[in-house]
Amino acid sequence: MPDVSAVQSEAISAIQSATTLTDLKSVEAKYLGKAGVIGGLMKELGTIPGPERPAFGKAVNEARGAVQSALDARAAELKVGEQAARFAAEELDITLPARRSPGGREHILQQTFNRIKSVFAGLGFEYLEGPELEDFKYNFSALNYPPDHPAMDEQDTFYVDDQRVLRTQCTALQSRVFQTRQPPLRVFTIGRTFRNEAVDRTHGHTFHQVDVFMVDEGVNMAHLKGTLQAFAQAMFGGEVKVRFRPDFFPFVEPGVDYAISSSKLFDGRWVELGGAGLIHPNILESHGIDTDRYSGFAFGLGIERIPMMAYGVDDLRHFMENDLRFLEQFA
Ligand code: FA5
Repeated sequence: MPDVSAVQSEAISAIQSATTLTDLKSVEAKYLGKAGVIGGLMKELGTIPGPERPAFGKAVNEARGAVQSALDARAAELKVGEQAARFAAEELDITLPARRSPGGREHILQQTFNRIKSVFAGLGFEYLEGPELEDFKYNFSALNYPPDHPAMDEQDTFYVDDQRVLRTQCTALQSRVFQTRQPPLRVFTIGRTFRNEAVDRTHGHTFHQVDVFMVDEGVNMAHLKGTLQAFAQAMFGGEVKVRFRPDFFPFVEPGVDYAISSSKLFDGRWVELGGAGLIHPNILESHGIDTDRYSGFAFGLGIERIPMMAYGVDDLRHFMENDLRFLEQFA
């Protein structure tokens, strides 16, 4: 006679060792399915001798019941476990800070232009702009360059045609303004300038200048020095020292170069920012300005050198390459 209790305990141990609901389904099919082991036992009922048949039938029914409840219990356990695993896999940490989307910011040169603008606007200068593609006349001849003067070669020039150049200096604005306006004048401009130069760490073919000029009664070197001193202090702080040494530019007399130094910023080295001087009387006179009454100062500074010194940037080409890893450092 088949051993019903052996089948029952074999089925129950298979149920206990099932680790997934899929495993459990196949155990169920094996024992309780249409062609399952327990159904097979029932089919054997006819072969059991008459007196033992009722007890055998009862034992098979009890086994089916026991296997069914073991299956139900194990299915419930596995469901809970699988749900917990799914929850763990899908878990979101809602306390994590949100990812920041990268925000834009002003280019370091633009930040520098803005600071320069606020300094000169604060000193009462008016901001004007001139064209980058400039008449030869405004860039050179109206600025007291004699024809064929070697100074024109010093600023290696990109000629677009016989009449027009990419401006080599923002000083070109001066002669444009004198054409239409009379003193008193306090004007400044910031712009891109171009020179056909060999490029290196401190020289670009494209760079920026700020040019400033003032024409009024009694303007002299003291006004020039005071303005450049105030500018250095506003840009670099009270520690900064300024230095003026004689230099030549056709459009000023006397002419000086302007350098700054600070123990804090650039190891006390002097760094030349640009040129300056009193506007040459020839220029004022050629624009009908009475030089017995009026005089003026002018200066022009390279802008890239300012953030180079302030932040220890060693190569001015970084400013134009637009590498975000560089630009992101200037918050
Ligand atoms: C001038 O351009 C004169 N216009 C300045 C001036 C204006 C003098 C008014 C007097 C009165 P200079 O060529 O030295 O001068 O240029 C001025 C500054 O521009 C330099 O000191 C330097 O800081 C910057 N600079 C000149 N060439 C380059 C270059 N290739 N790359 C980067 N900066 C430059």
